[in-house]
Amino acid sequence: MARAITLTLLIALLCLTQNSAPQTLPPAKADGFVYTDTAVDSSTILIEAFVDPICPDSADAWDPLKEAVEYYGTRVWLVVHLLPLPYHDNAYVASRALHIVNQLNASATFPLLELFFKEQGRFYNAKTFNMSRASVTSYIADFASRVLGNSYQSTILAGFRNIQTDLKTRVSFKYSASRAVYGTPFFFVNGFLLSDSESPTNVSGWKSIIDPLIAAQEDTSEKLARSF
Ligand SMILES: *[C@@H]1O[C@H](CO)[C@@H](O)[C@H](O)[C@H]1NC(C)=O
Ligand SMILES: *[C@@H]1O[C@H](CO)[C@@H](O)[C@H](O)[C@H]1NC(C)=O
Ligand SMILES: *[C@@H]1O[C@H](CO)[C@@H](O)[C@H](O)[C@H]1NC(C)=O
Repeated sequence: MARAITLTLLIALLCLTQNSAPQTLPPAKADGFVYTDTAVDSSTILIEAFVDPICPDSADAWDPLKEAVEYYGTRVWLVVHLLPLPYHDNAYVASRALHIVNQLNASATFPLLELFFKEQGRFYNAKTFNMSRASVTSYIADFASRVLGNSYQSTILAGFRNIQTDLKTRVSFKYSASRAVYGTPFFFVNGFLLSDSESPTNVSGWKSIIDPLIAAQEDTSEKLARSF
């Protein structure tokens, strides 16, 4: 018994210390990819989307969200966070590829996310069941190089050997966990979670959430103006 407990403790300790590169929280830069880096002010409506590049529901939700954000222009600010789900075998590698590409060329981040959404079937569990970890990594590096050019394949692969890109992906996971996000896609508007039933699946769904907020902002500023 005592031996079993000691062994359990030892394993627990190993889990804590294994691969323990210096990880300091909070990170130097906030987690998340900003969709269009426009100026924000206190009335900008903040949409935070938590997605997994290998999740079909995230892929389905992306086009309507993107269309809505483009429709509202500078009124909204979209930040995309990655939550690699443990039951999608390649989600962590795909998320890490996004961090690597983001570091090489930030403008290629969303094109790569969209490419994952479009062709994620290649990376589903069954499709890669017989592949080694090394083959999957190089397959994904190859795939990711499509947004930067073939000449970047080895640079992207080298990114997988750089502990910093692992740490960034861990921060994405930790950040999602810290916001109590346990699935994808999850959306927060101005800091508040949209429930499953409120989560829009089309542009009109987004408009029915954002329009009233903009109307309420305008209403408030008119009333204030009139009271002077
Ligand atoms: C960065 O990526 C974007 C989108 O893929 C591309 O249009 C641009 O040319 C790239 N910039 C550099 C310096 O490679
Ligand atoms: C994996 O490989 C085994 C042995 O070659 C084969 O029987 C099996 O069908 C393969 N599985 C998949 C999902 O490709
Ligand atoms: C948009 O989605 C909602 C449910 O989320 C549905 O009730 C509505 O019919 C959809 N609208 C269109 C135009 O597809």
